[in-house]
Amino acid sequence: MNENVEKFIAEFAKSLHEETFVKMTLGNYKGQDEHLQKLLIRLITTRKGTRLFFLYRYDTRDTAKNHDFNESMSLLHDHLSNGFQSGHLFTTEHDWQLDVGKKGKSRLNVGKPTFRSKPSLEHDRTKKRYVNSQSFYLRALGITTDQGEVRDKQHDKWKQINRFVETLAYLVDKSALAGRKQLRIVDMGCGKGYLTFAAYDYFKNIHGFEVSMTGVDSRAELVGLCNDIARGAEFDGLEFVEGRIDEFELKDVDVLIALHACNTATDDAIFKGIKAGAELIVVAPCCHQELRPQMKAPEMLRDVLKHGIMAEDVAEMITDGIRALLLERSGYSTRIFEFVSTEHTPKNRMIVGTRTGKSTDVEPFVREIDAIKSFFGIGNQRLETLLSSLFNPD
Ligand SMILES: C[S@@+](CC[C@H](N)C(=O)[O-])C[C@H]1O[C@@H](n2cnc3c(N)ncnc32)[C@H](O)[C@@H]1O
Repeated sequence: MNENVEKFIAEFAKSLHEETFVKMTLGNYKGQDEHLQKLLIRLITTRKGTRLFFLYRYDTRDTAKNHDFNESMSLLHDHLSNGFQSGHLFTTEHDWQLDVGKKGKSRLNVGKPTFRSKPSLEHDRTKKRYVNSQSFYLRALGITTDQGEVRDKQHDKWKQINRFVETLAYLVDKSALAGRKQLRIVDMGCGKGYLTFAAYDYFKNIHGFEVSMTGVDSRAELVGLCNDIARGAEFDGLEFVEGRIDEFELKDVDVLIALHACNTATDDAIFKGIKAGAELIVVAPCCHQELRPQMKAPEMLRDVLKHGIMAEDVAEMITDGIRALLLERSGYSTRIFEFVSTEHTPKNRMIVGTRTGKSTDVEPFVREIDAIKSFFGIGNQRLETLLSSLFNPD
């Protein structure tokens, strides 16, 4: 093997041994896998001890795995012989930059360290906060830097995550779930899992529930990445499953979450939650597309709703209003509010249903929903259709 490559790997081993290692990046990939772009390596603390977290960045997805020292050394030898042509090693003493050119020619430069201190490897199990910026999953998801600082472009997401967990913690504390030991949470349309990881971490490691949590999403590459990060973080009670919300078999759930699940996927999620008797149903709808094309402006509002933006606002309001009424009809008390300021996201309206356990007189709700639909000329609303199969199976 090339002398500079050997030296680069030896410096990596030395920095681990002397505890000066900050992180390593391999790039300029020229190997067999046409989609692989980069490899990012960091240290993390796991129950088995300190491990190296390898995050492989592909053009459309990421995958990740933890390795011990020996595995890491052997992988580095492989990667630098058969694929990656450049490497950056950051230690608290020096920055090393390796470049391998054609015909095996190479260069290894050493410079002043970019980082003077090592990233914290702490999990935030002991801190009584909603979300700890030092958490491993936040680094792995790119919300925070290796130093645990929120990245410049991620402040809105960070605010959203915090407000969401704070809101959820409050709702659980005020519900019948408050005194329980175990909590079963399902997050439908979980995407990259920002909110899923934060909710799991809070309820499990800060609140102290025994948590079993599942994130569901139709995008296989996100599900794969989230499962990798959950393993890296040792979140044993958290799993991600690939699938469609309307096809997911939901049997057992205390808290059903669906945040920004597109269009009627929110209705599918609410329906699943009602059917499974979830104690709490927490949704933040987005892209309301179902009612707008059906709506006919009532005569008295014709000149108000001739403006597209006004019709869109009304369609959103009516969609979410009907969803709340249907939750109430199904035995839930409801609240609708903005969970985070519009400055951080425009998709900030949250609908919360808390199961009352009381029987409900459904007739007034049926009349009210029918009246709204007929006023706006609406034929179908997805949640209502789904619930009618539950309430009137014939
Ligand atoms: C805008 S992202 C929201 C992600 C996450 N809940 C959040 O708020 O950060 C919406 C996610 O819902 C998923 N999704 C939309 N419709 C779905 C469906 N019917 N079944 C499963 N996943 C769905 C998409 O793949 C996407 O990842």
